Amino acid sequence: MEGRIREGWGTKAGFILAAVGSAVGLGNMWRFPYAAADRGGAAFVVLYIFMVFAVGVPVMLAEFSVGRRARLSPIGALRNVVGPSWAPLGHLYVATGCLILAYYSVIAGWTMRYTLEALLTGFGGTPSEYFDHSSTGLGALMYHIVFMGITISIVVGGVKGGIERASLVLMPLLFVLIVGLAIWAAFQTGAGEGYRFYLQPDPGKLLSADTLSGAAGQAFFSLSLGMGAMLTYSSYLGRQENLPGSAATISVSDFAVAFFAGLVVFPVIFAFNLQDEIGASSLGTLFISLPTAFLKMGAAGRLVGLIFFLALFVGALTSAISLLEVVTSSLIDNWSLDRGRAALGAGITILLIGVPCAYSLDILGLYDKIAGEFLLVVGGFVLCLLVGWRVKDPLSEVRRGFAAEGLLKGWLWTVRLVVPAILLVVIYQVGKAALELIGTTLF
Ligand code: PHE
Repeated sequence: MEGRIREGWGTKAGFILAAVGSAVGLGNMWRFPYAAADRGGAAFVVLYIFMVFAVGVPVMLAEFSVGRRARLSPIGALRNVVGPSWAPLGHLYVATGCLILAYYSVIAGWTMRYTLEALLTGFGGTPSEYFDHSSTGLGALMYHIVFMGITISIVVGGVKGGIERASLVLMPLLFVLIVGLAIWAAFQTGAGEGYRFYLQPDPGKLLSADTLSGAAGQAFFSLSLGMGAMLTYSSYLGRQENLPGSAATISVSDFAVAFFAGLVVFPVIFAFNLQDEIGASSLGTLFISLPTAFLKMGAAGRLVGLIFFLALFVGALTSAISLLEVVTSSLIDNWSLDRGRAALGAGITILLIGVPCAYSLDILGLYDKIAGEFLLVVGGFVLCLLVGWRVKDPLSEVRRGFAAEGLLKGWLWTVRLVVPAILLVVIYQVGKAALELIGTTLF
């Protein structure tokens, strides 16, 4: 640990784009639309905005405050900043990262397959049959392996030469693709009804505990919170960078992409009368209903489908990179491995953990519930209590490069009281749902 020069970002923009790359991914374009469809459309969107800014931004800042102060990955950072007895929370983060990447990579594999299909042959046959046959089995496993291979090869390149370089190209590309798609979707006949569903809240649905916890869980997943990804990325950041400003920029960008994804998905779904399918939403919704629409559009649909799945793949890749980086940097910091071995060892282990997900959608769903929803929220909850109540002078790190003392105090009390209170409700709800799912999937 000591004596080795720690890697760092080349530029501030590099850090922001890499962190936005971590945040923007399948969560925005695959999970967000179906979470919104499932829970009343616009009502969910309103609560989601609240969760991103009232809960997500403060938690992200809490991660930054620990990561940059320690300049270490989660295990060492928690040990140094909070105390040795808290290192196990870092181990939990690493385990959560492994579990998430394990199934994330399988879904990312589907996006690769769909991109290639649009490019080489066009969507054909029956989309639901195609999904059934391509989402599990040997084909799914192959794409999972290829996707992990690409992810590993970028993480091996290092913070600046691998992660930052990839993000500088991929993130602007993704923004252009998604905005282009949203503009195109606006011209579809029937788009108006899609917008209405997406943007006109039904007040009755606003205050249900289920919508609330769904929105919070989605915010955690989408902003990459609760498992040390943001903590790790901030550990490579210069001392004087403005942390609250970065947290705000990253969160606004992440929300913008999710919002635009909704502006693509809902008009298309409603234009082709596929709303019943998305209402009965499941993991595969987007991979079935969108290709159905694309198929009906003929050649234009092929091009749009290509762009859509390419954007999904690009987003998934930069997110997967951050998940693997948490595990890799922990191996580097704690076991003194060199980067190449660490990334390869971690990547292969995760690849193996993901194999069951390539053969069963039920298992994939279970990993998502446990790691992608429950463990993230628990990880964020404990971190807030620690930063709020145990870390000595938690404001000192956040104050560098940021002078608004009143806002800093507001942040501290939010992290001490508001966030834990909300997350307690969420943990109860999500915990219950996770236990039920374990029961139905395994027994
Ligand atoms: N935020 C990523 C997405 O929305 C997923 C992710 C979760 C990445 C947790 C890192 C950590 O797709």
